Amino acid sequence: MEGDPGGVRLDTARRDAALRELAGGCAACRRCSLADGRGQVVVSRGDPGAALMVIGEGPGAQEDASGSPFVGRAGQLLDRMLASVGIDSNRDAYICNVVKCRPPENRKPTPQEMAACLPWLLQQVELVQPQVVLLAGATAVEGVLGIKGGITRLRGQWRPWQGRWCLPIFHPSYLLRNPSREPETPKWHTWQDLKAVRRRLDELRAAPDPARDSSGDP
Ligand code: URA
Ligand code: URA
Repeated sequence: MEGDPGGVRLDTARRDAALRELAGGCAACRRCSLADGRGQVVVSRGDPGAALMVIGEGPGAQEDASGSPFVGRAGQLLDRMLASVGIDSNRDAYICNVVKCRPPENRKPTPQEMAACLPWLLQQVELVQPQVVLLAGATAVEGVLGIKGGITRLRGQWRPWQGRWCLPIFHPSYLLRNPSREPETPKWHTWQDLKAVRRRLDELRAAPDPARDSSGDP
């Protein structure tokens, strides 16, 4: 596994203070023009102590209104699919997005918008120190890994990233449009991917945490 885990895990109080400061910074952010159309900046939900981080594309209407990521129909499907492998999205995961403000008409964020927002995301990764990162959809893969390409080809392939295990999966919005659970369908593949995440988390739980022990491979 290439790459060192970025940074050292802070104690909980310092981490939470840094995350509050980050949320304040995001709320005041005007690094790109998505700020003009936003209702609320959508920073995260879930547990910053979780080993799993889920990164989506960007807020939709419900997220923009509520201030929480993945709370609309796609988020509810994500929650159900995570629950099917024993992952509670608020207790066992930290959920965020590549861009923190809603793009107009839910369009895909531009490369410039993703680049403007990336420092916030990298700071979240640094503070949360996830061991496993799920990238939901092609835009998250592009924004985080810089890889453009069909999610059909990328999904299900583990990739080392900053000393962490990263797994591209289909975006839950895509699964809402492709609801069949028959073998070899997108939803079936996503379920296989999430079972692999479950296995990976179980293995990591039995092994040293790379953020605490830099001698171990993630
Ligand atoms: N889709 C995303 O990518 N993120 C959200 O927070 C909601 C929908
Ligand atoms: N296109 C995407 O961007 N994501 C998916 O999950 C499927 C198609």
